[in-house]
Amino acid sequence: MAERVRWAIVGCGGMGRRHLAGLAELARGDHNNVELVAVCDLDPRNAEDLADEARGLLGRRPAVFTDAARMVREAEGLEAADCTTDTASHHRVAAALLDLGLHTLCEKPLALTVRGCDRVVAAAERSGKILSVAENFRRDPMNRLVRALLDDGAIGDRQFIMETGVRGRDTLFITPWRHQKLSGQLTLDAGVHGADILQYYFGDAASAYGQARLFEPMRVRRDTAGPGGFYEKWADTLPPTVAATGEDAMFGLVTFANGALGQWTDHYAGHGEAFGHRMVFGTRGSIAAPGDRNGRAVRLVLDDGSEVSDAGVLEHAPRYRLDPVAASLFGGERPWTYGLDFAATDRKLIALEQHELAACVRGGARPEVDGAVGRRDVALVYALFESQAVGRPVTIAEVEAGEVDAYQREIDEHLGLVPRAATA
Ligand SMILES: NC(=O)c1ccc[n+]([C@@H]2O[C@H](COP(=O)([O-])OP(=O)(O)OC[C@H]3O[C@@H](n4cnc5c(N)ncnc54)[C@H](O)[C@@H]3O)[C@@H](O)[C@H]2O)c1
Repeated sequence: MAERVRWAIVGCGGMGRRHLAGLAELARGDHNNVELVAVCDLDPRNAEDLADEARGLLGRRPAVFTDAARMVREAEGLEAADCTTDTASHHRVAAALLDLGLHTLCEKPLALTVRGCDRVVAAAERSGKILSVAENFRRDPMNRLVRALLDDGAIGDRQFIMETGVRGRDTLFITPWRHQKLSGQLTLDAGVHGADILQYYFGDAASAYGQARLFEPMRVRRDTAGPGGFYEKWADTLPPTVAATGEDAMFGLVTFANGALGQWTDHYAGHGEAFGHRMVFGTRGSIAAPGDRNGRAVRLVLDDGSEVSDAGVLEHAPRYRLDPVAASLFGGERPWTYGLDFAATDRKLIALEQHELAACVRGGARPEVDGAVGRRDVALVYALFESQAVGRPVTIAEVEAGEVDAYQREIDEHLGLVPRAATA
C-alpha cells in the first residue's frame, strides 16, 4: 500500500471535529490512506482541544498551529489539508493552503460568492495541487442509488424534479455567521447541498428564476448542540438572540441543460409542520428519494402499476454499485437502505471524501467534486438571488462569468474581491 498522505485539519470548529471523526472512521477500517499530523485554527483553544480529541480517537496527538504558513514550514512532509474554516474565509484560506503546496479538501460552499470560488480555483490551477470540495450529500448511498436508477432508465427520461424543504421557524441555526449576508446565510450554507443534488441527479443547470426572502430577522437560540451534537462545547458562547441580515428562504425554478425542469424550495424559516421531499419524475414513473443521511428506502412507482420500496428496487438499477471503500463503510456494494445514526453516517461520508482526495494525491486522478463543480453549485444558488435582483431568469453562465452580480456585489466588496463602489 502507498504511503499515507500526511494531512492537516485547518479550522477546528464544529466541522473540524466532524472531519476528525471522518479520519478516525478511516483509521478503523482497511482503507486508511491518511495520517493526521497537524491541526490549525486562529483560535488556539479550538486547535488544542481538537488535538486532544485526536489523541483520544487516533492514539497520536497532532502538532498544533495558529498559522497555516508556519504549519507548512514546521510540520514535516505535510501534503494535504481539510479546509474547515467558516465559509467567509474559504477564498483566502483554501487558496492559501493550495498556494502553500497542500492538496485541499475544502468544505462546501467552495466560497461565499462566485468570485470567491474563482480565487480558490485559480489557486489550484496556479499551484498544480488538487482541489476537492467536500460535498457529502451526493455520497450518501441512497443518493448514489437514485442516480443509478436515473442513469439505468428506471423511470424513463428525466423530466421534472421537486426539491422542497420547509422548517426552522426562528431558531438560530448552529452559528450566528449563518444568518448574515456578509458571512454566509443559510440559503447558501445549507442550500448549496440542494444545488449539488439537483445537478448530481439531473446534470448541469442552464438557467434559473427565483425569489428569496428574509422572513425571520431575529433568530433565537434553542438547539445548541447542532447536527450530531458536535457544537455543544460552544453552546455557552452563543448569544440568546441574533439579528439576521441574510435571506432564510429561497424559491426557484430551474431549467437544466437537458431541458428538464426543477422546482426548488429551501425555506429555513418555516413554521408549523416541518416538510421535506425530493421527488423525481420521468417519462415512465417517479422516484421518491428519501433525503440525506437517513438511510431510508427509495420508493419507485412505475406506470405499469408497480410500486417498489424494498430490495426489489435494485432490479431497476443493475449498474448500481458503491466503490470498494463506500461498500466497506456501508455494509455492501448494493445497499438499498441502511440503519445508522446521524453521527455514524456523517463520519462515513466525510471519510469517503478524505479517502478520495488522498487516493487522487497518490494516483493522480481528479476528485468527483472539483473546483468547477463546487463553483457551479454556488452559482446555481446565487442564480435565484441574481434573477430576483434583475427581474428575469438568468443563465448560470452569466452568473459564473460575473455578468449578473447585483446581489453578490455587496459581499464581494466586503471581502475585497471587487473595489468598493464610490459613494456620492
Ligand atoms: N458538509 C456539511 O454537511 C457541513 C456541515 C456543517 C458545516 N459545513 C461547512 O464547514 C465550514 C465550517 O463550518 P463550522 O460549522 O465548522 O464553522 P465554525 O464557526 O464552527 O468553525 C470555524 C472554525 O474556523 C476557524 N477559522 C476561521 N478562520 C480561520 C483561519 N484563517 N485559519 C484557521 N482557522 C480559522 C474558526 O476559529 C473556527 O474554529 C463552513 O464552510 C460550513 O458551511 C459543512
